[in-house]
Amino acid sequence: MQWLRSSPSLLRALDPSLLPLAGLLHLLLLLALSSARGSSRCKQTISRVARPHSVAITEFGAVGDGLTLNTKAFQNAIFYLNSFADKGGAQLFVPAGRWLTGSFILISHLTLHLDKDAIILGSMNSDEWPIIDPLPSYGRGRELPGGRHRSLVYGRNLTDVVITDSSNDVCIEDCYISTGDDLIAIKSGWDEYGISFSRPSTNIMIHRIVGETTSSSGIAIGSEMSGGVSEVHAENLRFFNSNRAITIKTSPGRGGYVRNIYISDMTLADVNVAIKFIGRYGEHPDEFYDPNALPIIERITIENVIGESIKFAGLLEGIEGDNFRNICLSNLSLSVTSDSPWNCSHVQGYSDSVSPEPCELLKDRIFPKHYSDCYHLTSHLRNLYRRAWLLSQ
Ligand SMILES: *[C@@H]1O[C@H](CO)[C@@H](O)[C@H](O)[C@H]1NC(C)=O
Ligand SMILES: *[C@@H]1O[C@H](CO)[C@@H](O)[C@H](O)[C@H]1NC(C)=O
Ligand SMILES: *[C@@H]1O[C@H](CO)[C@@H](O)[C@H](O)[C@H]1NC(C)=O
Repeated sequence: MQWLRSSPSLLRALDPSLLPLAGLLHLLLLLALSSARGSSRCKQTISRVARPHSVAITEFGAVGDGLTLNTKAFQNAIFYLNSFADKGGAQLFVPAGRWLTGSFILISHLTLHLDKDAIILGSMNSDEWPIIDPLPSYGRGRELPGGRHRSLVYGRNLTDVVITDSSNDVCIEDCYISTGDDLIAIKSGWDEYGISFSRPSTNIMIHRIVGETTSSSGIAIGSEMSGGVSEVHAENLRFFNSNRAITIKTSPGRGGYVRNIYISDMTLADVNVAIKFIGRYGEHPDEFYDPNALPIIERITIENVIGESIKFAGLLEGIEGDNFRNICLSNLSLSVTSDSPWNCSHVQGYSDSVSPEPCELLKDRIFPKHYSDCYHLTSHLRNLYRRAWLLSQ
């Protein structure tokens, strides 16, 4: 698999009191499970759980020197902690260090607690990533027919830690992430398999993420999104030295939707493309996909963005006959190096206070007429809108 050859995954919780865990490369990440909605901090339901038993990964022979392979130590520690599952659960503490490991399996009632300077490094040796059955929503392996490599931090049927492909109520907070792939990837199934499996990824909160990826995106949605992706709220993001900040990719044949996406308070530096939409990503699991299954991409709001050394502000390419609609950009200030910072096709939307001047297709003002067409704009615009409405009465 291609991503195994990319640079090792690095994940670190910046504040050890905030996050019980962390997690992985390509298919998704880590999660402090929560039912957060609307607030800028997810409820810390899990990290507050007092675990009566705690062990350190070093008690299982792990060495955090960045060179020693610790897969067995993680597996043995978790196997041992499994015996506390019905006694209030247990905590596995990972102290400061660089902990090289292959894939390991989580259990329920486990807090994987990373110390402030604990870094989990994914092994570059593909033998450390066992092959397992494909996801039902994918039908086959993503890069090749057959199975898929197990993710770095893997789990099934877990009750208080969850790592899946189609995920609900996910919260990703306070992480520094640097990979050779997308830092956070949100997906939900692939073409006819994803359509029939029909499980969306929804209610995903992303807060205070810092990261870099020279080849990919800070946050990527798709291209496999056939089960639908909605209610993604990402705030306080900082991406630097990266290829793209935000990417939404899809293709005819995917079906599904990407809807109600809100991205706010993002700072960018040295980024090739700030916002990228790809409508014809291609790549299908087999020849049985339905080319008429067109995805619906709508109500995407991006606001309060500052960027410097950006090459392109937005390369936004929808699908002919299937415009990406109600794309709303508000308060973007990007210093760009390209002469044509925007390139838009088959998109429809609105903008306010965007510099450089957005493409023609997004030039209509949001405020006041199209305010309600845009997903979840902040109080600043909402107040303006209310005031105007009151004045008009
Ligand atoms: C997970 O749960 C499902 C449904 O309850 C069951 O069919 C499946 O075998 C379980 N998988 C594992 C690995 O326990
Ligand atoms: C515009 O965005 C910047 C960067 O996030 C923020 O500091 C500023 O307060 C925003 N302006 C308004 C009027 O919301
Ligand atoms: C702009 O969009 C057109 C049509 O989609 C495409 O052919 C061209 O390569 C794009 N330019 C850039 C710089 O991406």
